[in-house]
Amino acid sequence: MTEPTQINHRYFLEAEQIAKTLSASFERRNLKPFFTNLFLVQDLGMTILIVVLDTTRIGDHSQYIQDELLHQLKTELGGRSVYLSNTTGVRFVILLTALPKLPRSIELPRDIPQGMVSLGMRFNGQLISMRWSDLGHLLIVGMTGSGKSSMMRSLAIQATRNGIQLMLADIDGTTFAMLAEHPLLFAPIAASPQEALDLILKALAECDRRAALYKSTPGFPENMDEYNALAVKAGKEPLTRILVMLDESSSVFKAMGGGSGELAGRIAELGWRGRKFGIHFIFGAQEFTKDLVGAVREQVNMSIAFRVKPTSAQIAKAIGCTNAHRIPADRPGFAIVDRFGPMQSYFVPKRLLLSAGSSTLDALPEFERSLFSRAMESGDGKLTLNNIAEWGSVSQHQARKLQSIWAIRGWIAKEGNRDNSFCITAKTQGLLSNRQTTQTASNRTNRSQTQN
Ligand SMILES: Nc1ncnc2c1ncn2[C@@H]1O[C@H](COP(=O)(O)OP(=O)(O)OP(=O)(O)O)[C@@H](O)[C@H]1O
Ligand SMILES: [Mg+2]
Repeated sequence: MTEPTQINHRYFLEAEQIAKTLSASFERRNLKPFFTNLFLVQDLGMTILIVVLDTTRIGDHSQYIQDELLHQLKTELGGRSVYLSNTTGVRFVILLTALPKLPRSIELPRDIPQGMVSLGMRFNGQLISMRWSDLGHLLIVGMTGSGKSSMMRSLAIQATRNGIQLMLADIDGTTFAMLAEHPLLFAPIAASPQEALDLILKALAECDRRAALYKSTPGFPENMDEYNALAVKAGKEPLTRILVMLDESSSVFKAMGGGSGELAGRIAELGWRGRKFGIHFIFGAQEFTKDLVGAVREQVNMSIAFRVKPTSAQIAKAIGCTNAHRIPADRPGFAIVDRFGPMQSYFVPKRLLLSAGSSTLDALPEFERSLFSRAMESGDGKLTLNNIAEWGSVSQHQARKLQSIWAIRGWIAKEGNRDNSFCITAKTQGLLSNRQTTQTASNRTNRSQTQN
């Protein structure tokens, strides 16, 4: 172990002690105590010991990764939190200091970058964020009042900020009411189980339409990003991503014949077909019977469990959200994500809900507004990569990304100009003369001011 100056000496002594205890614990269980490395890291106020097992010398490591062993090690190490990481080799992660506490309420951030979606905050303070194209299909479970609908709203609002179209089913009429008139709705909000099935059928019909578009496009696009790149180049209309969201899906499911009903079959079909065409589904469910989980499990890329009943502990574990039944009743919004562990999901304040009803697509964020105005003032509304990089103080790489996002949103296009460069569209010129700005405006202004 090398000793970086910033880590307090006492943690090294502690780490040595832990290494001895671990060796003894393993030997008592007839497990070989071979480590390739032990190292200390300091991250976000925590000091963490990482113990890497020598998998070439221990052979079969199945006995090292059992829940029971982790629990026992925790006791033998004086109650310190012990986690296992077995994505690359086998590592034990031991916290030498307490976990920082997650805030009880974290407002949905205003400055999530375009093209990205964020789920919430982890213990280490990092946000769980990913590109929309990596989101896949999602299962969100939890008992009443645990935070499912709030999370779905936060995703719907983020979708509207990205110009993503919505297909919503809301049987209670409480989750998405504020979006009823939203211009990004692909179809009216489904309010009954039968309408929910019709909605899924509409999504499948859209898969058919998109499949035909892919087929007729030279270059063999295999996903939406590939198709859009080809379409924008050819001056064709790009496709928008679609989010299909079903809240209260357990009751919809029950009403529509359960796991063997038509709805289950169609959802499974949408699961495997939709991904390729930029169509994602998100299920919210209070009761997640084997029936429901069975029908969607194969297709779901990520499962999120808010607090569940003790009787659902096993199913929560089966979907990768162990200990969701241990989440306290007074922590709505706290969830376990199968791929990321515990997080606090975002709280969506009322003012964001109210503004979600209006089209955020029809308002330009301040960053884009100032850049586009400059392009108009400079003469022809042309937006080259160099212009974007210089005026927006961003790298060429970021400029290229912005350019493709703007093209997809219809803010710029190559149509109707001589040298095949991107220009501001007529629609954007209309938006520029409209002073309304989105929720992200003030934030972006701050950011661009600090850049200047
Ligand atoms: N992320 C969050 N942060 C803080 N508080 C939250 C969060 N999510 C939900 N809450 C609180 O919990 C309450 C219930 O949340 P929500 O309506 O989303 O639950 P639900 O799981 O959809 O319940 P039901 O199954 O009854 O519809 C909210 O009104 C809010 O007060
Ligand atoms: Mg709800």
